[in-house]
Amino acid sequence: MSVVLRGISKSYGPVKAIENIDLKVEAGEVVGLLGDNGAGKSTLMKVLAGAVMPDTGTIEVDGELCSFSSSSEARDTGIAMLYQDLALFDDMPVVHNIFLGREITNRFGFLKYGEMRKRAQEIVNSFSVRPFDVRTPSGHLSGGQRQVSALARTTAFGSRYIILDEPTSALSPSARDEVLSVVRELADKGIGIIMVSHDLGHVRKVCDRVAILHLGGMAGVRDMATTSQDEIISLIVQGHA
Ligand SMILES: Nc1ncnc2c1ncn2[C@@H]1O[C@H](COP(=O)(O)OP(=O)(O)OP(=O)(O)O)[C@@H](O)[C@H]1O
Ligand SMILES: [Mg+2]
Repeated sequence: MSVVLRGISKSYGPVKAIENIDLKVEAGEVVGLLGDNGAGKSTLMKVLAGAVMPDTGTIEVDGELCSFSSSSEARDTGIAMLYQDLALFDDMPVVHNIFLGREITNRFGFLKYGEMRKRAQEIVNSFSVRPFDVRTPSGHLSGGQRQVSALARTTAFGSRYIILDEPTSALSPSARDEVLSVVRELADKGIGIIMVSHDLGHVRKVCDRVAILHLGGMAGVRDMATTSQDEIISLIVQGHA
């Protein structure tokens, strides 16, 4: 089980945002996607998430060629992307944010609120973070809890691959650790995760492998365990080790 990107390119007018990128992510692993500002990380992830159409290249999900013309098509295939702003509605209770667009209803179309609440609470409780009540409005949650409820949403939808674009950038140190441990737990349950980050410490904590983009090209893919910090930094800065 894996997602395989081959030869992905995308230009915006004269700007080659990404060029001829190959990348594979297996179920159950966390891959860090690194690179300087403007290296093409978000563009590549938006292609995988169906939000941006590539000019060239193919996407294979669990052995099947896919071409996504929208994020909802990618979601239906099991690929979800969490953007930095998380797209949670602050006034809504967590449970509604988790089930938004896929509410559980009875055969007459009425919402089964009790069942959604129970299921949402189970998912939140299954992560080893400070528990919170899913009836709380999302706007009252801490940054880390917001991130966790966004992850709960992807779990509730049965996503098999999750893309996180800088999940820890706006969080306090303890919230970061919580989010990173949830990321690891999801991977251990068999979900494939790509995490865009500028923080090498976080990447080292949870990632099995790292892929480094440089000026829109793939500078290298390395196993975390056998790669030095210096090597990663020169791949980011110079595009070669
Ligand atoms: N919608 C767009 N229109 C025009 N140019 C774009 C668009 N999206 C991205 N680009 C350009 O493509 C290149 C790659 O951008 P991208 O956002 O993918 O980089 P990034 O690696 O995510 O950077 P950062 O670390 O700053 O988030 C940049 O030169 C950027 O200006
Ligand atoms: Mg970006």
